[in-house]
Amino acid sequence: MAKEIKTIGVMTSGGDAPGMNAAIRAVVRTALARGLKVKGIKKGYQGLLNEEIMDMEARSVSEIIQRGGTILGTARCLEFKTPEGQKKGADICRKCGIDGMVVIGGDGSYRGAQALSRNGINTIGLPGTIDLDIACTDYTIGFDTAVNTAMSAIDKVKDTSSSHERCSIIEVMGRHAGYIALWCGVANGAEDILIPEKYDFNEQSIINNIIANRKKGKTHHIIINAEGIGHSTSMARRIEAATGIETRATILGYMQRGGSPTAKDRYYASIMGAYAVDILLQGKTNRVVGYKRGEFTDFDIESALNMEKSIDEYQFEVAQIL
Ligand code: ADP
Ligand code: F6P
Repeated sequence: MAKEIKTIGVMTSGGDAPGMNAAIRAVVRTALARGLKVKGIKKGYQGLLNEEIMDMEARSVSEIIQRGGTILGTARCLEFKTPEGQKKGADICRKCGIDGMVVIGGDGSYRGAQALSRNGINTIGLPGTIDLDIACTDYTIGFDTAVNTAMSAIDKVKDTSSSHERCSIIEVMGRHAGYIALWCGVANGAEDILIPEKYDFNEQSIINNIIANRKKGKTHHIIINAEGIGHSTSMARRIEAATGIETRATILGYMQRGGSPTAKDRYYASIMGAYAVDILLQGKTNRVVGYKRGEFTDFDIESALNMEKSIDEYQFEVAQIL
């Protein structure tokens, strides 16, 4: 028989992402509406091990849906990667009466969620990352906001790039994944898109492209470079030396992780937060929530982590054409 859930915990873990607050709010309010008690765990698994745990009421999550970051804080915790740390975390949950947990984070956080499940705490993961690099879902909390933030910033850089007839390399986040770069590449009409999944490090072909475009009369040349490729500043120096065209690098950095979430991030994060509570109530554990082919759904964590995500060939080709 499924374990009866009376009290659930909620935490954010790994890198923060806009929309996490909307998810926390939905977890808290859905749980309360279903007659459960809710506890907020501060600073991810580290806060759990430090017993930084607080009662959450409907009012604890007032006025947060529009805020970036996470009101619970987030952290990275090495101790939770050890079997001893994981058992200690589950024991703390039991001591505090927590029998279900919602963890909002990325792949690493799912491993922690898996460990909690193994140690007897029913746990559900929600995909919280600006990188969109979780294979079981077409949507991750924060991507839409991050890509819109980056797009607006790139529009501004493009203005000045055109006025001065410069080449601009704009570095966007994504250490292992090029989704923000790909989307901005299309949305900002970039001339080149460099992403970890595809870039062949052939700088000469970029240089040839810049020279050819200048001959055709283009006043600017925008290169979107994903963080995973990096080295934007030295790349700018080399391109300037090879082309004779003034070239500047702009690294957008953490501005992409912050800021007020878009309507899409608020909405999807809210539905996912509620969904997590409802599947906990159905007795599910060791699952992650995803959005696939237009529907909210859930997957076993191990199978979700074993799925592979790759850049869609057709979309990448279109990005090159445009
Ligand atoms: P993200 O969740 O964004 O991928 P991390 O990879 O940094 O971020 O993971 C967040 C946290 O999840 C880690 O600091 C750690 O506490 C926990 N975690 C990561 N990997 C494991 C693991 N293999 N086992 C248990 N916990 C893990
Ligand atoms: O997960 C989002 C992300 O911005 C990645 O693109 C990047 O690799 C990582 O976070 C950097 O995070 P931090 O600097 O906080 O370790």
